[in-house]
Amino acid sequence: MSHPREYIVAALRATRLLAAYNAAKFHFVVSKAKADNETFLREHPGFNVPSLALCYDAYGHVSYRDYFESGRKHAEFFAGLINAAGLRDAAVLEWGCGPARVIRHLGEFLSGKASLAGADYNAETIAWCRENIPGIRFEKNELAPPLPFAAASFDAIYALSVITHLSEKMHGEWRDELLRVLKPGGLLIVTSHGDWYREHHLLPAERAQYDAGRLVVRGGIEEGKKWFAAFHPPAYMRGSFFRGMEIKEHLIHPLPGSIEQDVWVARKPAQAGVASRALEAGQPC
Ligand SMILES: C[S@@+](CC[C@H](N)C(=O)[O-])C[C@H]1O[C@@H](n2cnc3c(N)ncnc32)[C@H](O)[C@@H]1O
Repeated sequence: MSHPREYIVAALRATRLLAAYNAAKFHFVVSKAKADNETFLREHPGFNVPSLALCYDAYGHVSYRDYFESGRKHAEFFAGLINAAGLRDAAVLEWGCGPARVIRHLGEFLSGKASLAGADYNAETIAWCRENIPGIRFEKNELAPPLPFAAASFDAIYALSVITHLSEKMHGEWRDELLRVLKPGGLLIVTSHGDWYREHHLLPAERAQYDAGRLVVRGGIEEGKKWFAAFHPPAYMRGSFFRGMEIKEHLIHPLPGSIEQDVWVARKPAQAGVASRALEAGQPC
């Protein structure tokens, strides 16, 4: 049974009222979080925080405590995946870094002295990161590729809750671009809206599409924003998104309570050209 809230959101989406609802909800979540945000700032005087508007744009909530605690937890988790692949002193990119919730903590958990970069299509978030988070290179990209990095720049790239907000066309274009800037043999870690979302969020027609192995995309609002949502059947991830790559792990809903997405860990083929030949084979993405 789909939650009644999903039907309300679907109606707002269909009538193009979702952006107005999103703007109105901002004031509600700000007042709800006010007291604890004040306490958090008193407890953490040296910790730079982004504006509530930037937090809301990226996460839909404005809790500084959650920004701090989930950021550290997720940094430890993603660094663990990178370390487990045997990488040390790695060049790591977070694509879709938002206001640095995770990447600001990442270096603390990675093996050796990592060199870190973050990219996002939100100009304000990148401006805030550049001013407030030292020691990390931040770059702005557009909704569509390219990234302002040379080919084979990174040992590992992670994208946490980013393809979850893109159209099918952008999935294909960004997959190719992330592979371009990844070194041969490099690690690509991507999160997806998997079976947990199928169970808790999808409406019956969307479920049928998901169960048939097809990407489900909900538009009706600006692409890349949190309400623009894509849902990823594992068959789509294996057969389309990661085609030509070695999938090392599919972690199903490994961070319950803080983020309900699946995590995929894949490797770019060490031999140049293997993934691009798979692309030329014309399989859908
Ligand atoms: C749900 S937020 C996640 C932010 C961050 N990864 C985190 O977990 O804290 C999604 C982020 O993806 C960014 N984004 C969406 N489309 C993008 C694109 N085409 N290129 C780069 N960033 C994008 C948004 O601006 C936003 O910061």
